Amino acid sequence: MSERVDIATVLLAAGQGTRMQSDLAKVLHPILGVPMIVHSVDAARAVGSERVVVVVGHQAGAVEDAVRRHFPDDGVVFALQAEQNGTGHAVQCAKEAVGDAARVLIMNGDVPGIHANTLQALKDMHGEVSSPLAFATTTLQDPAGYGRILRGKSQTPEDVVEHRDATPEQHAIAEINVGMYLVDADFLFDSLSRVGTDNAQGEVYLTDIVSMAAALGEVGALDIPEGLEMWGINDRVQLAEVERAMRARTNESLMRAGVSFAAPETTTIATNASIGKDTTLGRGVRIGPGCRVGEGCRIDEGCVLEETTLGNNVHVKPYCVLLDSAVGDAAQVGPFAHLRPGTRLDASCKVGNFVETKKAHLHEGTKASHLSYLGDCEIGAGSNIGAGTITCNYDGVNKFKTTLGEGVFIGSDTQLVAPVSLGDNAYVGAGTTVTEDVPAGALVISRTPQRNIEGWVAKKKAERDNESD
Ligand code: UD1
Ligand code: CA
Repeated sequence: MSERVDIATVLLAAGQGTRMQSDLAKVLHPILGVPMIVHSVDAARAVGSERVVVVVGHQAGAVEDAVRRHFPDDGVVFALQAEQNGTGHAVQCAKEAVGDAARVLIMNGDVPGIHANTLQALKDMHGEVSSPLAFATTTLQDPAGYGRILRGKSQTPEDVVEHRDATPEQHAIAEINVGMYLVDADFLFDSLSRVGTDNAQGEVYLTDIVSMAAALGEVGALDIPEGLEMWGINDRVQLAEVERAMRARTNESLMRAGVSFAAPETTTIATNASIGKDTTLGRGVRIGPGCRVGEGCRIDEGCVLEETTLGNNVHVKPYCVLLDSAVGDAAQVGPFAHLRPGTRLDASCKVGNFVETKKAHLHEGTKASHLSYLGDCEIGAGSNIGAGTITCNYDGVNKFKTTLGEGVFIGSDTQLVAPVSLGDNAYVGAGTTVTEDVPAGALVISRTPQRNIEGWVAKKKAERDNESD
């Protein structure tokens, strides 16, 4: 029998997000390289919520597919709210998926800036108060639109009143409901079943459970500062603002851990990428989700890394694109190199300008310094690939492999017509088209012999001059 889950998280994401003016569901718009809702799932998991329920409605299928791609394990499940009858109704729709969890953390799917430390503080507070509910509040200069917190004589929260249901005096209250709650599960679903729809929006308000909790004891109110952690995203201006703030927060924590940034406001690092200390990142660098960069690396300006691992002391020179690749210690890449999926460069390799690789494994110390295409190939250690070398790996239908031994020397402007293999220390003369296997230590050359025809230019000119007379 599996143990009872302590905290299930419910993320509300059924709303339409009209103001995004988008065919893409709001919660799928990316921030730092992943759909915004992924950040909320990560934060929930960071405080030990083993079960996450996403309440979907508008574009339910698309949201499910995208979120599932990020969390292929079964820790994230979905609950359908076919009609959006309010935040309380949305939580009711998640009841079955919440299952036997003892407590429920509820957040909006469009508030990606929440930090795990704050959720931990909410968790701590929930453990201390005498009512079954703790929630986050903040104080705003302009609280219009938000639910207001009504505090009683003892200064503890007694109720939340929505803007549209509030009296003019209540509109003057600056303390608002952020929309983040931690609630005992039994109390939550029991009280929601008793909430009506007698309000300005005719909806089941989740906020109505606050007064019910207050009747049972002290409701916990975690006061968080106005800012990123409570900012919801309704349009693309807010999307950009939130991304800017999350970028700044991510980069700042990396800087504190020993990573240098030439221009942090231009550098986008996924929150789950890891970067070792004494690594320096140039202007405009982008490092996507899941990338791992070692210590003492230099990634110069304009480089893009996706699903890529770099060892220590790697130098990636300006304007390189590295996709699903692995680069060993002290290797050098670029400028203007393109490492496509399945590239593996072992330690101390050098891949220079205008080199494209794909499913290529270059063993230790091998160099391809200029202008080459290396695809579907294995190249032994200490080899030298001359300028303009092309692996002809594709016959229009199938892909074939090129295999080179150790210490192979390939002269410039060589075509290696796959499938083909060259033994250790083979030596390929410049301009050769290699179509058959080459034994170890052999020279291969397929150039036509050179002819010099003396006086040819003058003779041709004389012929042309006669014709035009
Ligand atoms: C809600 C709170 C309000 C709080 C504010 C903070 C209620 C009644 N009010 O107001 O006190 O100050 O959030 O932002 O809860 N959603 C669904 N299904 C629904 C309705 C909403 O999934 O039927 C989702 C939305 O997609 C959104 C979230 O719940 O992610 C909040 O809904 P929204 O309509 O923005 O809440 P507010 O009316 O702003
Ligand atoms: Ca609403």
